[in-house]
Amino acid sequence: MVQAIKWERGVLTLLDQRILPHEVRYVSCADHRQTAQAIKDMVVRGAPAIGISGGYGLALAAKEAAGKFGSAGDTPEVLAAAERFLREAASLLVSARPTAVNLSWAVERVLDKTVSALKLSGVAGAAQAALEEARSIELEDVEANRKIGENGAVLIKPGSSIMTHCNAGALATGGWGTALGVIRQAWAENKVKMVYANETRPWLQGARLTAWELMEDGIPVTLLADSAAGYVMFLGKVDAVVVGADRIAANGDVANKIGTYTLACLCKHHSIPFYVAAPVSTFDLSLATGREIQIEERSEKEIVEFMGKPVAPQGVRAFNPSFDITPGELVSAIITEKGTVFPPLEQNIAAMIK
Ligand code: MRU
Repeated sequence: MVQAIKWERGVLTLLDQRILPHEVRYVSCADHRQTAQAIKDMVVRGAPAIGISGGYGLALAAKEAAGKFGSAGDTPEVLAAAERFLREAASLLVSARPTAVNLSWAVERVLDKTVSALKLSGVAGAAQAALEEARSIELEDVEANRKIGENGAVLIKPGSSIMTHCNAGALATGGWGTALGVIRQAWAENKVKMVYANETRPWLQGARLTAWELMEDGIPVTLLADSAAGYVMFLGKVDAVVVGADRIAANGDVANKIGTYTLACLCKHHSIPFYVAAPVSTFDLSLATGREIQIEERSEKEIVEFMGKPVAPQGVRAFNPSFDITPGELVSAIITEKGTVFPPLEQNIAAMIK
């Protein structure tokens, strides 16, 4: 399976997802600044994948701190300067993209471990602890994906055609994906007839990434223009929709790629189950509802241009929210590695994440 993130000889190496599927090229990030830029520029994308990358970004910062401050000895002044450096690096990484909570969750987790190690064993120990924690986050995600796949496949009936949106696959995670993990497991159990992948304007994660991943695995996939989703449901061709998530509020409202909310409304109209597959790290119980989730707005250029070529009249205004919020009341179930949460979501999410 394709690997979006690699840690090789002290360098973070990211598969450049902007140029897939036609070119397979890796980009090296030698420090946390380059890592933050790569996340912002969509070299790596998908909530768990940017979390894992952010974790390694902080490990790079801890390595830099060891080189910068290590020779002066672990005096209180050196430790304080190293901690300041790490906290600034963490803020830079977290600010790269605002919607997916996995990014701040992972960076803060590595930061906590690193700062504790700094106090106990100095700058060299902190660098080692940072790398170990980043690696754990990646390995845990692989395992979470596998369990999400198993838990989700139970919901898929034999002979199903499944629609998905954006890319919640191997390219977006450390393992085989969340939504695509469910599809991969259901395929392994001979339950999948067809996968409908929505193209996902404007970055075309569905067309470029999901279609590619599924074809590589030999899973039958049909690509749709985003605007065709409703008609395909009307034709009776969709048995379930499975998508990923970037942040899930305490009441079960889900932030995911723009267009997800539209699909959930269409599912309600057509009585099609609408499933969200996400690891527990995607829940943000500090937010009561999805209204509090910060939605990333990206450049107007992504809308008025197509593949770098202008398509709209010059000077036209555009609005480019990268994500939307699907109210929990439209979600049939949220599939996690700890089990599947059914409505009432608010109560059952709280019970699952104690
Ligand atoms: O802008 P992107 O490509 O990072 O958006 C990705 C999504 O919306 C995914 O559905 C989500 O992050 C879940 S990935 C397992």
